Amino acid sequence: MSKQSRLVTLEEYIIQAQNKFPGATGELSQLLRDIGLAAKIISREVNKAGITNLLGVDGSMNVHGESVKKLDLFADNQLISALDRSQITCMVISEENDGVVRLNSDGGKYIVYLDPLDGSSNIDVNVSIGSIFSVYMKQPRYENALVEVDALQPGIRQVAAGYVLYGSSTILAYTTGLGVSAFTLDPSIGEFILSFDDYKIPEQGTIYSINEGSYNSWQEGLKKYIKYCQQEDINTLRPYTARYIGSMVADLHRTLVKGGIFIYPASKKYPEGKLRLMYECNPLAFIIEQAGGLATDGEKRIMEIVPEAIHQTTPIYIGSPQNVEMVKTFLQAN
Ligand code: AHG
Ligand code: MN
Ligand code: MN
Repeated sequence: MSKQSRLVTLEEYIIQAQNKFPGATGELSQLLRDIGLAAKIISREVNKAGITNLLGVDGSMNVHGESVKKLDLFADNQLISALDRSQITCMVISEENDGVVRLNSDGGKYIVYLDPLDGSSNIDVNVSIGSIFSVYMKQPRYENALVEVDALQPGIRQVAAGYVLYGSSTILAYTTGLGVSAFTLDPSIGEFILSFDDYKIPEQGTIYSINEGSYNSWQEGLKKYIKYCQQEDINTLRPYTARYIGSMVADLHRTLVKGGIFIYPASKKYPEGKLRLMYECNPLAFIIEQAGGLATDGEKRIMEIVPEAIHQTTPIYIGSPQNVEMVKTFLQAN
């Protein structure tokens, strides 16, 4: 992980990265810049949400029956219109929209998945929230009309993915498959400044992150693993520390920086897990793998799951490689 001595903006960095590929058309670079712009606008609104009356519910339910907060809709609109403007994205799938959203340019070659506002239950209490994106190429087909099935590609086909964390500062991290780059928003100049250009997750961490309220309905192997995390053993730095923010982006960003494991398992309430494969798990798995970590549903690599529906969910175990390998041994033994 190298720290930069000269200030490099997100825009400059994207252009420099593009210049390393002589045949690049610049379209993916444009798409990333569009997301950067929407992120700045969302960040500004997040920071003044209490003043401008953007806190609180807007009254409708999203496709998952959860109440939609005003900022969710604001973020959804900003991201979709930023992508629509540059005419290189043909289709968007967002948590806030039931079906696919076809954009004006159906000739555009990218398909983008969005969780426009992640951690929305934390909006009203001033706790970190985020945005997540995941980018695929439209696959060539005989028919021209774009349909949902065009978007059902496994995570290993992602050409880019990233997140924005609206925390004590606003951070944008992304990958195009060549490591993870992270930028911090300097609000005084309105620019994302490169903080790290090859982020690596610690091989092993001492933090576990899971909503323990559902303990009684977990599978046996997971219960035993969490007890293992809590047992005292000076040689393996146990007991581990428990941390759970309830915004996946924030929990994953901490996991990336400090190491450890984040788990959202199957439970009685969510037999197939709660987190969405296409716009929560795959993009964050791509980031974590590019940083040297692992992401599994307990059996399969998250990015190899073949999707059947755009809003499907999956259990997820993600983080430092040694922690994820350890939980897998517990799951397999029970
Ligand atoms: P969203 O706000 O996009 O619906 O996502 C919330 C998700 C995720 O961010 C978080 O990790 C998880 O829900 C928390 O769920 P529990 O409250 O069940 O722990
Ligand atoms: Mn979410
Ligand atoms: Mn959301």
